[in-house]
Amino acid sequence: MEKDNVNQIKTIRTDYSKFELTKSHVDENPLTQFEIWLGEAIQSNPNTANCMTLATVSVDEMPTTRIVLLRDLSFNGLTFFTNYESRKAKEINHNPKACVNFFWPELERQVRVEGILQFLPQQESDEYFNSRPFESKVGAWVSKQSKAIENRNELDSKYHELLQFYSGKHVPRPANWGGYVLIPTLFEFWQGRPNRLHDRIQYVKEASINKWKIERISP
Ligand SMILES: Cc1cc2nc3c(=O)[nH]c(=O)nc-3n(C[C@H](O)[C@H](O)[C@H](O)COP(=O)(O)O)c2cc1C
Repeated sequence: MEKDNVNQIKTIRTDYSKFELTKSHVDENPLTQFEIWLGEAIQSNPNTANCMTLATVSVDEMPTTRIVLLRDLSFNGLTFFTNYESRKAKEINHNPKACVNFFWPELERQVRVEGILQFLPQQESDEYFNSRPFESKVGAWVSKQSKAIENRNELDSKYHELLQFYSGKHVPRPANWGGYVLIPTLFEFWQGRPNRLHDRIQYVKEASINKWKIERISP
């Protein structure tokens, strides 16, 4: 039965026809354009609109990806939070270039953002950490993200021990947990169109003049 389902992948076809995208209708600032699309994505599906696939590059130049949640658009970039000792963090320490991708199927849209990752100022990481539910804060102390562990029980027993330890107390932000900001150098806005002739509008940062060059690229 599962195999029958999988066999369908050769024939599943979706034609995209909901919207179009032109150079004359996008904002000249890609962050503003991104905010417009993100707002529409949140309206169409608030559960997944801020999920982004984050690509980094390992020391031996292997690309790696994982989903993280976009949490802010201040500091002229895209902020997410993670563990500063995770696999991704080690890769970012080695090479701060990164790329994120959003897919908003209800709107037949995707967005690619390339850029350079910087640490979020500690005060902002503290503020965000303090806004999280008690259980998530404790969870941040429990997880040695990306490291091998013996079994599930190791996690659960540490979690319950720390739940008791912090009960009724302030949970501080672990030093190895905080935010990164992706400072964009390239945006691509992709709008699905009929017959695979999609609209793609790309912004490339021209660093020497601090301006964005906007062009249509072929599907
Ligand atoms: C919907 C979703 C949201 C996630 N959000 C985050 C997040 O905001 N930060 C994070 O560190 N991991 C998040 N994760 C887990 C990551 O995908 C990943 O497993 C983890 O960060 C370890 O990645 P690494 O070993 O490549 O460093 C999320 C996973 C999913 C499926």
